[in-house]
Amino acid sequence: MAREFTSVGVVGLGTMGAGIVEVFARNGIDVVAVEISAAALERGRVTLTGSTDRAVAKGKLAAADRDALLSRVNFQVGLDALHSVDLVIEAVPEHLDLKQRIFAELDRVCKPEAILATNTSSLSVTEISVATTRPNQVIGIHFFNPAPVMKLVEVVRTVVTSAEVVADVEALCARLGKVDVTINDRAGFIANALLFGYLNHAVSMLESRYATREDIDAAMKLGCGLPMGPLALMDLIGLDTAYEILDTMYRRGGRDRRHAPVPLIKQMVTAGLLGRKSGRGFYTYERPGSPVVVPDEQTPVASESALADGARGIAKVGVVGSGTMATGIIEVFAKAGYEVVSVTRGAEKSAKVFESVKTSLNKGVVRGKLSEADRDAALGRINWSATLEHLADVDLVVEAVVEELSVKKALFASLDEICKPGVVLATTTSSLPVIDVAMATQRPADVVGLHFFNPAPIMPLVEVVQTIRTSTETTATAKAVCATLGKTGVVCGDRSGFIVNALLFPYLNDAVKMLEASYSTADDIDYAMKLGCGYPMGPFELLDVVGLDVSLAIQRELYLELREPGFAPAPLLEHLVTAGYLGRKSGRGFRDHTRR
Ligand SMILES: NC(=O)c1ccc[n+]([C@@H]2O[C@H](COP(=O)([O-])OP(=O)(O)OC[C@H]3O[C@@H](n4cnc5c(N)ncnc54)[C@H](O)[C@@H]3O)[C@@H](O)[C@H]2O)c1
Repeated sequence: MAREFTSVGVVGLGTMGAGIVEVFARNGIDVVAVEISAAALERGRVTLTGSTDRAVAKGKLAAADRDALLSRVNFQVGLDALHSVDLVIEAVPEHLDLKQRIFAELDRVCKPEAILATNTSSLSVTEISVATTRPNQVIGIHFFNPAPVMKLVEVVRTVVTSAEVVADVEALCARLGKVDVTINDRAGFIANALLFGYLNHAVSMLESRYATREDIDAAMKLGCGLPMGPLALMDLIGLDTAYEILDTMYRRGGRDRRHAPVPLIKQMVTAGLLGRKSGRGFYTYERPGSPVVVPDEQTPVASESALADGARGIAKVGVVGSGTMATGIIEVFAKAGYEVVSVTRGAEKSAKVFESVKTSLNKGVVRGKLSEADRDAALGRINWSATLEHLADVDLVVEAVVEELSVKKALFASLDEICKPGVVLATTTSSLPVIDVAMATQRPADVVGLHFFNPAPIMPLVEVVQTIRTSTETTATAKAVCATLGKTGVVCGDRSGFIVNALLFPYLNDAVKMLEASYSTADDIDYAMKLGCGYPMGPFELLDVVGLDVSLAIQRELYLELREPGFAPAPLLEHLVTAGYLGRKSGRGFRDHTRR
């Protein structure tokens, strides 16, 4: 029989603590909520009432249930109030000495059988536990932000945590409606160990002006389907907390440079820019604690017209290639009203592309998204050709041929000869340096990357890649074209992986390394990222969809360009590829897909 928890204590009512109080009280458990001062207690109370009032306003909680919930919470200053609770969760700032002091005090105040839990994200639960005389009753219960919403709880057992305590806490998580994964005490556990390298990398992109905050966040939301971008997430976590987590992970996790906090984070913390809780972090919020972003001096000003930014007018577009990307891109441009010249390597290929575009447009008609007249008009706007000479009068060329530098360079040299002056030449490469392609022409200022995502008609993101020779007019034109296609164009520098792949693949590779180290299972790692961080797919699900060979190739490129030791491809990934386990397409990757 699992232990019955009738009353629990929560220490620290900040970003996490207030949410944890709500989770318990919502599930009928009495809570003693403790803070360090009357003022901090009041702030915690306001956070809790604000959150429950919002739930009532959204119709997710009845007013009477809110009142019952709030009546279960006993707000107190000082730890002495915790003398008779069955379990305490500590959620004070991420400092080992502070947590150790609090645990020593809790050990003195709480009844002998009480379980003492920490919500630490990165500190050693073991080190915290030895500050007490009952380390076997100390455990990590790591909630995710916002605690009332996120389904996951990481239960962290140390080498001395008793099996009974682990079982009791697992049963408690189930009672709270949470899904738990139980793991050993390692820096960052599952989710943060995979998340924080990515967050830190995103901040370094901003710090080096590789891309703007809006573009970095839009890229990860639209390119990967994440609930929020990395910089908005840093603001939600709190920059002070994020700094401490990174710093601890760097020290505890083998001094991986990717966890050394980017200097900008420390500067912002020193300047009091802590994120949502202080009203300002990477973004500016309506007021402290508010989720509503308001414009500030960094907010891009929407110009009256794209032409004001020097964008050139584009009416006729050439698309070179006949593969998946070219086919999707032809459809996108034709649907948006552009006159399109498709150039393939022969009539047979053109016929195939035509059939694919028609089939795809027909699906739109069947789903009621496109009228038959619009479909016919779109198809009518496409001219089919097998010679580049027909690109002499287009305003924009989008190249989507095979991903081989020699082929692309030869093509761009030909385009340079054929196309009229002022044309924008774009490559859809996802891994080659755009500057190499640009230098195959005499007009590198007119060359830009337009990295569409697959399937192009559906994915809302395009990375606009500017090289050190791309002119501002060319970039402005590319951005304006994306807007007319109904897509978000994010501008970034010409570095391996652009924004999305550079941030995504090292995270996937880290997940493979974690599996390889036997820290957790593929299922639990997938759960952790989906239920703890709101990812639409776990890393192993995604790797199997993308293809392990493709993922390995991208990871190798990133490693070769940046020479970052942490980017070295996971040996397990290499072995799986060598063994022919490439993911869904080969029937087996991290999972066996033949048995479904
Ligand atoms: N922010 C997140 O997204 C997140 C997610 C999961 C876990 N965590 C972990 O949760 C813990 C708390 O982080 P946070 O972001 O909520 O921090 P926070 O700074 O928002 O809140 C900490 C609270 O602790 C209070 N406090 C400080 N000293 C105290 C004391 N001696 N007694 C009682 N209260 C005291 C402070 O007044 C403050 O209200 C950290 O260990 C953090 O790593 C954070």
